[in-house]
Amino acid sequence: MASKHLNFAATLRKFTDPVTGRILEMRCMALDDLDQVCLLEEKIFPSPWPLDAFMAELMATYSHSFVVRDGKVVAAYAVTWFLDEEFHLSNIAVDDTYRKRGIATWMMTEFLQMCRKAGINIAHLEVRRSNKSAIKLYRKFGFNVTGVRKNYYESEHEDALMMSCKL
Ligand SMILES: CC(C)(COP(=O)(O)OP(=O)(O)OC[C@H]1O[C@@H](n2cnc3c(N)ncnc32)[C@H](O)[C@@H]1OP(=O)(O)O)[C@@H](O)C(=O)NCCC(=O)NCCS
Repeated sequence: MASKHLNFAATLRKFTDPVTGRILEMRCMALDDLDQVCLLEEKIFPSPWPLDAFMAELMATYSHSFVVRDGKVVAAYAVTWFLDEEFHLSNIAVDDTYRKRGIATWMMTEFLQMCRKAGINIAHLEVRRSNKSAIKLYRKFGFNVTGVRKNYYESEHEDALMMSCKL
């Protein structure tokens, strides 16, 4: 299993914000980030993950969670799973003030590069059928719809599209 030994922290990723010119940094999510991450999660998603869910991800050996910080501000975050031979994107979100600057594209590029380095050759995710901007992002990386999970988002009565990409 590709676990925490991937040691993402050793290779901090940087990105120049095209709007402000500031350097944003992506690094592993830490307990200190959770207040901001949960606030964003609640602002962004109709059925937000609770704090416990993020804490469980921080504990799980196969799970790697990341934050993109603009100084002390969390601008984006993601939860990813590096399993035996597959990658799963469990959560990704960019604060709306930071959107359409290429941040999610940069994060996805980094994750898929990490997969290739770890010898992982398939990536999976689920996305709401109505989430056109996310679907467009994933298609850009070669993800295709492989199935539908009916009523996956029960409280909103919405299906999930399963998408996969060979790396
Ligand atoms: C989906 C989501 C993660 C995309 O994040 P993002 O950082 O805005 O994505 P990007 O900036 O990389 O790409 C989005 C668009 O910005 C454009 N863009 C990228 N850099 C840009 C720049 N410098 N100037 C202007 N536009 C730019 C991209 O071309 C893309 O446009 P398009 O959709 O017309 O092709 C974000 O909208 C979000 O957090 N949504 C809510 C949470 C969510 O739905 N998560 C997915 C769950 S499955």
